[in-house]
Parts: sequence; C-alpha cells; structure tokens
Amino acid sequence: MNYTESVQHASSYIQEKLKKIQAGTIAIVTGSGLGGITDAIEDKISLPYSEIPGFPVSSVQGHAGTLVCGNIHGTPVIAMNGRVHLYEGFSPQEVTFGVRALYEAGVRTIILTNAAGALNPAFEVGTPMLISDHINFMVGMNPLRGENNEEWGPRFPDMSCVYDKELRTLAMQCALQLGLRLETGAYMGVMGPTLETPAETRMYRIMGADAIGMSTVPEAIAAHHMGMRVLGFSCLTNKNLPDCIQEVTHEQVLAQAARSSDAMTSLVLEILKNIQ
Ligand code: HPA
Repeated sequence: MNYTESVQHASSYIQEKLKKIQAGTIAIVTGSGLGGITDAIEDKISLPYSEIPGFPVSSVQGHAGTLVCGNIHGTPVIAMNGRVHLYEGFSPQEVTFGVRALYEAGVRTIILTNAAGALNPAFEVGTPMLISDHINFMVGMNPLRGENNEEWGPRFPDMSCVYDKELRTLAMQCALQLGLRLETGAYMGVMGPTLETPAETRMYRIMGADAIGMSTVPEAIAAHHMGMRVLGFSCLTNKNLPDCIQEVTHEQVLAQAARSSDAMTSLVLEILKNIQ
C-alpha cells in the first residue's frame, strides 16, 4: 500500500467505527496538556489510535492518542486527542497522517492547538496566542516532500494565507466576547526535542517569531495543501527570552498547559458555538 492508500484505508476504518462524521464536522487537534477540550464533547464515541490501521501512536507523556467524535453546542466535532511529533522519530508523512485521514473522512475545517514558549517579550505565560502565520524551521522537513497527490492539492501550494482570515476574525470576536486576553503572532516550528539555548532563542526572535514549539507546522501545511480551513492556537507555557532564559522542563510545560487550558477551552468552545 502506498501512503495515499494507507491514509484512505485508515479513513474508511475511522468512518466505519465513528459513524457520526457528518458534513460540517470540525476537527480539533489537542496539544500537550490541552486534552480537556474533549471533556466538553457530548454523545462521545472514542477510538484509540492504536486500533486504527497504520495510524501512528505517540510515546510522549501528556499525549493521549484517541479520536473522540461527538458534538459541542450542536456543532459536530472530532478531536484528535494527542499527536505524534518529528522528534519522536516519525516522518513528516506520519505526523500528518491523521490530518490526511480526517480530510478523507470529509472534514474541511481544523483547529490546531499546541503548547509553546513565548519569544515575544510582551506575551505573558498562560495567555492563548492566535497563530497568524508560521515559520517552518523543522530544517529539511516538509510533509509535501516526495510524490504529490494531485487529488489532495497542488505541487507548489501557495502559502500566503495558511491560517483562515475569517476564522481568525471569529476567534478575536469570541475572545472579546469572553473578555479573554488573546495575543496574535507567528509560530516558529522547530524539530526539538531539545529546548532552545539563549543564542537560538535570540535568533528565532530576530527571525520574526512570537512563539516557538515542536508541532503544528507540518499539520498546518498538509491541511492547507488540501484546501482545509485552518485555525491555530498556542498556549504560552513559558517565557523563552535570551537575556533572562529560565530552565524549562516538560513537566512544567504540561503543568502550565493544564493551568491555562481553561482559557483555551472556553475560547475554542465559543468559536464552535459561532462557527459557520
Ligand atoms: N520551546 C520549544 N517548544 C516548547 C516550548 C519552548 O520554549 N515551550 C513549550 N513547547
């Protein structure tokens, strides 16, 4: 089986098990410590990634590995609770397998969330950041490398607007409605798993990024390649500033994501209430 066939095979299995993937279903990928969004899903049906043929499974603490289908405020949703990363040794194709499979199942809108370090000194820990753009700094890695499936999208996709403008406006309106502070900025995607040295942090900031993390960019590229509407949020779990850099552990990132997940969750729920 080639990659496209594997994705289609997995997608058929998902559709058979989760009969509720209706037209208009919104996908949500939950980042480190942000799986709480799935608690709000009503009439849930869950499917562990490990049961889906060919579906990659994460080994990272804080990443569950379950598809959860149902609805929130009457909007049909499917959550990818947990994701796989390049730093675990997965290929860019494997990292984007789930997004491709959901597209094949008819999903056309995706909300990507992650935990990230704040490079912009004005941003506070705990605040959600709306991703307005990204920098693919996962050096040498692109999920579109290799043979292109023209049915999914073009060989050379335009990247002038990856994160859907209307959905970004909606996100800002929802934050305002909730009285919730929402930053906006560019997300730098790096391979990891090392966190940054002070010199790297300085470089990434000079390069134009506001937040940095180890996911989301390949998924956003694959989703945009297929013409999906993409919305992305970073939960800022630590300040990553060159002149006062602090030690960061994965446990701190998870703990802060858990503390801040209420803001992110209420924002996503409000968006789902209002999304067309
Ligand atoms: N750098 C990279 N990835 C991260 C960080 C960070 O500071 N915080 C959470 N994920």
